[in-house]
Amino acid sequence: MQSFLFLTASTREPGHTGNTETLARAAAAALPADMPQRWIALAQCDLPAFVDLRHTTGSYPPPAGDAATLLDATLTASDIVFVSPVYWFSVPSPLKTYLDQWSAWMRVPGVDFKARMAGKRLWVVATSGDRAKAQPMFDSYRLCAEFLGMQWMGALWGKGGAPEAVLEDATALEAAISYFKAG
Ligand SMILES: Cc1cc2nc3c(=O)[nH]c(=O)nc-3n(C[C@H](O)[C@H](O)[C@H](O)COP(=O)(O)O)c2cc1C
Repeated sequence: MQSFLFLTASTREPGHTGNTETLARAAAAALPADMPQRWIALAQCDLPAFVDLRHTTGSYPPPAGDAATLLDATLTASDIVFVSPVYWFSVPSPLKTYLDQWSAWMRVPGVDFKARMAGKRLWVVATSGDRAKAQPMFDSYRLCAEFLGMQWMGALWGKGGAPEAVLEDATALEAAISYFKAG
């Protein structure tokens, strides 16, 4: 069954909705009303710092707390949406911390993470000052999707800045309406 997991990565304070989430919610509003949606704010999650045990212990214990919640949400969704502002031409730290957990989850005995990620769809909604300079971040996400055999669904980009700046970007708001129709 199809379901969407939206992972928001803005580091704005709780209660302050960023441009990227505003754009993602505009896209999500065009999904069928009965399509399950789950939204998780990564900056509010307490994730462990990743420790590279690949060539020592070689495996990781089952995650606990927020990491367990995120693993379960990730595996349950058919469609994963990174709601990702551009920070320093790159992946914002809450999303990078989450992505590093994938390297652990691939090595939790019995989870079979890599095989279960294959075929899921990866979407990216982003805002920043300049579309062309967001390309390295999009390329990173596309390569992550390819590494796990996920379908790369391309990016929806809008011009951000102060909260609600993206509401001035008519092209982005128009593109948001049809973004998820590609799936
Ligand atoms: C730490 C940080 C780094 C940023 N780096 C870039 C950048 O490299 N390029 C850019 O165009 N905008 C950059 N910005 C601006 C944000 O991408 C832009 O304001 C975006 O709309 C913020 O998303 P939000 O409103 O969803 O939080 C940066 C903002 C922050 C806070």
